Order: sequence, then structure tokens, then C-alpha cells
Amino acid sequence: MDEAGLRRSLARMGLLRPDDTPRFRPLGGGVSSDIWRVEAGARRFCVKRALPRLRVAADWRVPVARNRYEAAWLRTVAGILPEAVPELLGEDREAGLFAMAWLDPGTHPPWKGELLAGRIDPAAAAAVGRALARIHGETAGRPEIARRFATDGLFHALRLEPYLEATARAHPRVAERLHRLAATTARHRFVLVHGDVSPKNILLGPRGPVFLDAECAWYGDPAFDLAFCLNHLLLKAVHRPDRCEPLLAAYAALHDAYLAGIRFAPATGLAERVARLLPGLLLARIDGKSPVEYLETEAQRAFVRETAIRLLWEPPARPEAIAALWQRELAR
Ligand SMILES: Nc1ncnc2c1ncn2[C@@H]1O[C@H](COP(=O)(O)OP(=O)(O)O)[C@@H](O)[C@H]1O
Ligand SMILES: [Mg+2]
Repeated sequence: MDEAGLRRSLARMGLLRPDDTPRFRPLGGGVSSDIWRVEAGARRFCVKRALPRLRVAADWRVPVARNRYEAAWLRTVAGILPEAVPELLGEDREAGLFAMAWLDPGTHPPWKGELLAGRIDPAAAAAVGRALARIHGETAGRPEIARRFATDGLFHALRLEPYLEATARAHPRVAERLHRLAATTARHRFVLVHGDVSPKNILLGPRGPVFLDAECAWYGDPAFDLAFCLNHLLLKAVHRPDRCEPLLAAYAALHDAYLAGIRFAPATGLAERVARLLPGLLLARIDGKSPVEYLETEAQRAFVRETAIRLLWEPPARPEAIAALWQRELAR
């Protein structure tokens, strides 16, 4: 979309004053959307528009309607935990985009950068766990939210297929297990799931974590969000074995804070689904459609692959058991 189109869209959303000459700066980093930082007079905001084809090596096309669900997720969560989302400023469905508040990286650094730099604060991880538990808890048992986010098809196209099913094609020996994991996840429709709870989509603000990028929003299995985020902490421990201990402390803090914060479902069933999903997601980050970019050596990738396959064969009952095994194996 060109600048004239963006300007027209901003005007339709009521975000431009007659004398504004907005300036647009594309933000890099995203694979699934165009994102711009907009300066209009003294105001700053952020505009996001979904791309029909993701910028990854594999050919991966998904409907742009997901942009609408991301805006709906922001709106829903603003009613639960307003400090955990950028404020939604406007939506232009015709153009397939929305505008939200701009959060300055100086005051809202992305969690991913902090982790990769070795600045690992378990308290931040606990805050992520608490916020997620709150969002899940407040949306559990809410039929109107379930209807609004009945995005099973999108969630399959964006998460279950590219992660678990694509990985099953690459690993015939564990294919059946991966397909079963995808089917179990799809069946549990309990809460409003974010779908991409990754440190790159979380900013650490002065009032706690802020979640971005909810285009995979789905009324479904809370285990997916928790497993998805824990997965990143395990992968970063492979990238930074020197920081394994604090990363696994963050893993425990996230997990404990989340489970302490939920009231909507028996924690045992949930913890078990998280523990079963995690190895599938680990393997998916090596051989699925969205491999993690910072595991650069074949030895690192082989470590994740072999340990994940072992865990798929002998599924642990609790996420703590996975962390313990990870730490033991990394220390060898
Ligand atoms: N409201 C915002 N304020 C500041 N930075 C943002 C905002 N929204 C997105 N970003 C930055 O842009 C990056 C990409 O945005 P994101 O919504 O995650 O898009 P994608 O779906 O392409 O990953 C984020 O990781 C973040 O660094
Ligand atoms: Mg993102």
C-alpha cells in the first residue's frame, strides 16, 4: 500500500487533522504484516496491515482477515487488562488495517532483545505468566467471546499446520504423535488464546508486559499459549548455554505464575497438555515452516531435534520435567 492510500485510510479512521502531513517509517522485523510508525504533528502511532503471503522461505499464504481478529483481540483485552495492550486507535476493514498507540522502545524494550542480550529477569517472566493467566481466566466460559473468535480454520492455517503438521511431514517416525497433538489442541475450546506469545511480540513496559501481534487469536486451548512461550525460553538456553540457569529460572517463573493465576480448569490436565505440546513445538522450530533464526550451528539444531524427539516418544507429565531434562542434557 502506498503513502497516499495510507493517508486516506488514516483520514477515514479520523486520525488525521486537516493540516497534518503524516510521515511514515516502515518497521522491519515482521514477517506477516506491513507495519509503519506514523508521525503526525506531535502524535505518534502505529499502523498494521496483514500481508497475503508471509515473508518466510516456505510458501505460506493466509487470509488477510486475521488483521480483523488482531484488532478484536486488542479490543477484548483492553477491557480486561488495558495496560497489557497498545490502545487500539482505529480500524479500517476495507483497507485491512488498524492503528494502535506507538510504544517507544526506549520505555518498552522488546523482551526478545533483553533475553538475547543475556538480561534475563525472572520477575518479567512471572509478570507475563500472570497477565496471560488473567486474559485466559477472564475469557473462559464466555460464549460471546467464543463466537467472536471462532477462528478454528485460521488457527489451523497459521499454527497447527505450519508448526505441527509440517513437522510431521519432515519426521515420519513421530508424525502420528504430532498429528494427535494438533487434533487434541484443536478440540480444547476454553479461553481466548493469543496464539503467538513469543518474546519478540512482548514489550516490557513500565506497567508490565505489553502483548503485540495477536493475529492468531482463537478461542481455544490455553495450553498452546503457555507452551509456545516456554518453548522460546528453552530454545534461547541452547543459543546461550552460558545463560541457561537464568533462562530456566524464567521458564519456571512463567510457568508457576501462570498456573498459580488460573482458576478455570483443572491445572493438572492443562500442565500435561503443555508438557506434551512443548516437544512438538520444539521440533517445529527446527523443521517446521518457521524455524528459529538464532540457532546457527548444526550441533545446536541437532540437540533440539534429538531431545524433542526423545520427549515425543516419552511424554513427561509436567513442564518442570522438560526443564530438568533440558538442563541436564545441555550440561553434558
Ligand atoms: N504498537 C507498537 N509500538 C511499538 N512497536 C511496535 C508496535 N507494534 C509493533 N511494533 C514493533 O514491530 C514489530 C512487528 O510487529 P508485529 O505486530 O509483531 O508484526 P508481525 O506480525 O509482522 O510480526 C514488533 O515486534 C515490534 O517490535
Ligand atoms: Mg511479531
